[in-house]
Amino acid sequence: MRTTESPEPPQRRSVTRRTFLGTSLASGAALLAGKSDVIFGANSTTTPNMAMNTTFKFGGDLTVNRLGFGAMRITGEGIWGWPPDRTNALKVLRRATGLGVDLIDTADAYGPDTSELLIAEALHPYPKGLVIATKGGLTRPGPGEWVPNCRPDHLKQAVEGSLKRLRLERIDLYQLHTVDPKVPIEESVGALKQMQDAGKIRHIGLSNVDPVEIARARKIVPIVSVQNRYNIEDRKSENVLEYCEKENLGFLPWFPIGGGGGLNPENPLNTAAKAHGVSVYQVALAWLLARSTVMLPIPGTSSLAHLEDNIAAAKLKLTPEEWKAIDAIAG
Ligand SMILES: NC(=O)c1ccc[n+]([C@@H]2O[C@H](COP(=O)([O-])OP(=O)(O)OC[C@H]3O[C@@H](n4cnc5c(N)ncnc54)[C@H](OP(=O)(O)O)[C@@H]3O)[C@@H](O)[C@H]2O)c1
Repeated sequence: MRTTESPEPPQRRSVTRRTFLGTSLASGAALLAGKSDVIFGANSTTTPNMAMNTTFKFGGDLTVNRLGFGAMRITGEGIWGWPPDRTNALKVLRRATGLGVDLIDTADAYGPDTSELLIAEALHPYPKGLVIATKGGLTRPGPGEWVPNCRPDHLKQAVEGSLKRLRLERIDLYQLHTVDPKVPIEESVGALKQMQDAGKIRHIGLSNVDPVEIARARKIVPIVSVQNRYNIEDRKSENVLEYCEKENLGFLPWFPIGGGGGLNPENPLNTAAKAHGVSVYQVALAWLLARSTVMLPIPGTSSLAHLEDNIAAAKLKLTPEEWKAIDAIAG
C-alpha cells in the first residue's frame, strides 16, 4: 500500500505531546463551562478572508457541522479489536453527539468492524441528522497492517457488511478508503455506483487520492468528498484541498491534529494557544476550520476530556494575524 498515505498511526513523539497536555484538558472544559453543551452555530471567525460558515452541505443536500469526530481511535491498540475500556468508548461516542457533532467518520477496517459496531451500540437508533461516513477498500490482516482491496466484489461485500454493522438501510457517505494499485479507480467507484443505484449508498467520497484520480472517478459517478492526510504541519495535499474548494467537494483532513505524533512546540500554534488559554490542538483545529469553507476536520480520540477540548475549537476565534502566522508554518 502507499506508505505516504498509510492510515497506520505513527509512533507518538511523547516529548512534544507532554509539552501540551497540561493546557489541553483545562481549556476544553473552560470553553464549554457555563454554556449549552451544543456548541455549533456560532460564527467562528473574525475576518472575511477566513472561512465563515459552520456547516457544509455534501452533494447539495446533506448538511453537517464542519467539525466532526473520527472514530478510528475508539478501537484497540494498533486500531485492532475492541478498546480496553468499551464503556468509555460508548461514552465518547454519545458525548460527541451530545456536543452537537453530526458527522462521524469510521471504516470497516477500524478494528476491523469494531468501530462501526460500537457506533451502532452507542447511538442506534440514531439521532436525526447524524451522518455516519464509513469507508471500504482496506483490509486488515493484523494489528497495524492495512492492505488495499478495491476489487468490485470486495467493495460490494464491504458495503453490505457496513450496512449490517451500522444497522442502516442506506449509508449517507461511503468513501473509497484508498486506491488499489491493482484495480483501476473506475472499476472501484463503478461498484460503489452500483450500490448507490441499488439505494444502499446516498453519497460517495474518496480517500487518499490525487486530483487526477478524483477527476477519473468523477467521470464514473458524482463524488462529494475527499479524505486525505492534512494538518498545519503536513500540507502535501494542498493541491487536493484546492481542487475540492474549486469543485465544492468536502475535504476531510485525517490526522488533523498530527495523528498522535504531537505538533511542533516551537511554532505559532503555541503562541496563539497561550494567548487564548487553550490547547494547541484547539488552535490547530480552529486554523483548519478557518482555512477553507470545504474543510471538515474529524479529530479522533478515545478520551472524553480530549473530545471536549477538540470540539470546543468550533468556538475559538483566531485573529487574522494569528491565522496568518500559523498559516506560514511550512507544510
Ligand atoms: N482515510 C484514512 O486513510 C485515514 C487515516 C487515518 C485516520 N483517518 C480518520 O481520521 C480521523 C482522525 O485521525 P486520527 O485520529 O488518526 O488523528 P488525529 O485526530 O490527528 O489525532 C488523534 C490522536 O491525538 C490524540 N488527541 C486527540 N485529541 C487530543 C487532545 N485534545 N489533546 C491531546 N491529545 C489528543 C489522540 O489520543 P487520545 O485517544 O489519547 O486522545 C490520538 O492519539 C480518524 O479517527 C479516522 O476517522 C482516516
